[in-house]
Amino acid sequence: MDRILIRGGNRLAGRLPISGAKNAALTLMPAALLTDQPLTLRNLPRLADVDGFGHLLNQLGASTAVEGTSPAAFGRTVTIRAGDLTSTEAPYDIVRKMRASILVLGPVLARAGSARVSLPGGCAIGNRPIDLHLKALEAIGAELEMAAGYVEARAPSGRLSGGKYRFPVVSVGATENVVMAAATARGTSCIENAAREPEIVDLCRCLVAMGARIEGIGTDRLEIEGVDALRAATYSVMPDRIEAGSYACAAAITGGDLTLTGVDAEDMGATLAALTEAGVVVEPVADGQGGGVRVTAAGPLRPLTLSTAPYPGFATDMQAQFMAMLTLADGASVLTETIFENRYMHVPELARMGADITVSGRTAVVRGVAGLTGAPVMATDLRASMSLILAGLAAEGETSVARVYHLDRGYERLEEKLSAVGADIERVSDG
Ligand code: UD1
Repeated sequence: MDRILIRGGNRLAGRLPISGAKNAALTLMPAALLTDQPLTLRNLPRLADVDGFGHLLNQLGASTAVEGTSPAAFGRTVTIRAGDLTSTEAPYDIVRKMRASILVLGPVLARAGSARVSLPGGCAIGNRPIDLHLKALEAIGAELEMAAGYVEARAPSGRLSGGKYRFPVVSVGATENVVMAAATARGTSCIENAAREPEIVDLCRCLVAMGARIEGIGTDRLEIEGVDALRAATYSVMPDRIEAGSYACAAAITGGDLTLTGVDAEDMGATLAALTEAGVVVEPVADGQGGGVRVTAAGPLRPLTLSTAPYPGFATDMQAQFMAMLTLADGASVLTETIFENRYMHVPELARMGADITVSGRTAVVRGVAGLTGAPVMATDLRASMSLILAGLAAEGETSVARVYHLDRGYERLEEKLSAVGADIERVSDG
């Protein structure tokens, strides 16, 4: 199995390109199932999860054609065409490994009139139910049954009716599922307390490009007037605000100066505000066609009090990386995780590198220490793995991060991007 080896202590400086967003890619890909026409996605990041989702689409009968891009380029263009669905089932083996597979439920149901999708079960960051996905789909006309660990969904008379649903809790995945399903329903749907994450805006814009009628994009109330059919479209995946935020933390923790290119600073409001509060200088810069953000460490890091929340709040996907950064702040920080009950798996690993962190329930108190020391570590999820990379970049000595497959799920060519800005980092294979 591969490991990432880092010899810490280098100050990172230079330009670092940001890839297309994993979390947007994984909801734009299933949208292709809604039509028999091709959907071409540009700037699709090269990630294990994106490949995995491509395989699931292939199993359902969709073709995926990759446009010839140079191996040196980040991202690529993929055309997905679901001419005929040859299967309406997402099996346990796939859903268990990749939770985002649940996002085929809405589109397959809308397109084929029925769908059978395995229940995902728990995962490393906690109990992650899908009850809200199911309730929202029921509200727009789905009939559901649970059998043998699967959800079996049907649209009576072959097509969903549309309807009204108010989410009791904001859910990103469930909002995505119901918006996709409602796009081709017979009637109009109204989704209240919808998630407003930029990735949902990206999905809605792509659906509109495919011919969907959606009002209220970017707000918590989405009105979707179902259309008879969607059509072909070409759409560019938004920049990955979480990848960008992670590398911004890398600049901060190494006393560095990174210009992140191809990002949208507007989508990163809470992250950039928190960095500024920590004493890091953040400035939007022009970068050719796309935007850029320059992140410069300026003196000691100040401690923070942060609580994760749905967008536009501070993202749960940034919590682990900020925790790594704050282990070296000048004082005590308080982090509270409100989205997932078990998202502190990186804490014992950071402690092995010398961090001083006390967890009590959903709150972690991080007391800044003078320095971290390298150690062999491993993580159980994607963002936790990134927090260990960040700690390793700042630590004295060598850090080896095991279970690299977590990182490969969500960071495109991480070691290449980091070594280009001065990190001493390599991937080693233990055979
Ligand atoms: C969540 C994050 C998203 C992040 C992703 C991967 C939020 C609001 N969502 O999205 O930013 O990119 O994890 O880390 O920050 N829930 C239910 N029933 C459901 C669905 C969700 O009770 O059917 C609960 C969850 O347990 C959680 C909350 O609702 O406490 C939000 O979950 P949700 O947004 O659906 O999770 P993801 O879509 O995975």
